[in-house]
Amino acid sequence: MIRPPEYVSAIKPYVPGKPIEELERELGIKNSVKLASNENPVGPSQKAINALKGSIESLNRYPDGGGYYLKKKLSGMLDVDEDELILGNGSNELIDIAVRTFLTPGDEAVMAKPSFVVYAMAVMAQGAKAIEIPLKDFRHDLESMADAVTEKTRMLFIANPNNPTGTINTKEEFDRLMQRLPDHVLVVVDEAYYEYVTNPEYADSVKHFRAGRDVLILRTFSKIYGLAGLRIGYGIAKKDIINEMNKIREPFNANSLAQAAALGALDDREHLKYSREINEQGKRYLYSEFKSLGIEFVPTEANFIYIVINDSQAVYEALLRQGVIVRPMGPQAIRVTVGLPEENKRFIEALRTVIK
Ligand SMILES: Cc1ncc(COP(=O)(O)O)c(C=O)c1O
Repeated sequence: MIRPPEYVSAIKPYVPGKPIEELERELGIKNSVKLASNENPVGPSQKAINALKGSIESLNRYPDGGGYYLKKKLSGMLDVDEDELILGNGSNELIDIAVRTFLTPGDEAVMAKPSFVVYAMAVMAQGAKAIEIPLKDFRHDLESMADAVTEKTRMLFIANPNNPTGTINTKEEFDRLMQRLPDHVLVVVDEAYYEYVTNPEYADSVKHFRAGRDVLILRTFSKIYGLAGLRIGYGIAKKDIINEMNKIREPFNANSLAQAAALGALDDREHLKYSREINEQGKRYLYSEFKSLGIEFVPTEANFIYIVINDSQAVYEALLRQGVIVRPMGPQAIRVTVGLPEENKRFIEALRTVIK
């Protein structure tokens, strides 16, 4: 058989979860709750659904490869130029495009561990080296990450908030990092959970973009906007960076339904506000239950919580048998998405039984 390059063979594949219906059939359970992928439990905005319905009849046409209307709308909302924006098939694709645009085999990219696994996978698939710096107190250790930058470093990834820990880096920490970084490093600031953050100390990445620095800010419609299934996200960076990425981007990467739904979603401030409220309410409930159960958890700025627990695989499987799907994270943690009130309650009841 034809062999891929050594650096591709070395990649550990991302293992997708089974469809929920299949899992229920195998385990003989019903009405399971899925709290495994940090999706918005509220669902999409009705305005997004209406926009989607309105565009279905035109599916024979290719999408607008330039994303004209969506970029125009984002440009007005964010106060950036349209040519400072790029759309992606999820923000995940933009990670991939950025890596393929700026890294060559042998280059290095600095990232945190644990953080979003796609960074390391994308970097390795390019034959470049992922330099993984352990979190400190569950947060990106930006000082150590800056220390790890060498002549070979071309990219530095920050998930802010971080997945899986839900923690943020502050303005001060981020400003210090930007002061320390040499010009040959592109900082990718992944803000997939940006709209959920309530902490006033949250780092302002846009400020550094406006100051002309090499930063690529990634946001998505998959999380608070509730459109994960459609795959649409966007990136903000200076025009020269976007131009280079556009050379690598597949011409019709952002599909027409996704573009239409995203436009509808941006019109629905109420949905955003409600989703944030449901999340805050869920966080308060879960924190108080964890405290009364004596469970160690990391306070979150996103829509998921990192729980430190022994035998996490066994806990995950026991929860699964009770119809609650969470995500094991290494041997000593699970990550649970904040669900609707009744879903959170189901999870706590199941967890109570499991730890007994
Ligand atoms: C930190 C982070 N970045 C990016 C993504 C990918 O999101 P998208 O659906 O926009 O590809 C996720 C999804 O879980 C995430 O947690």
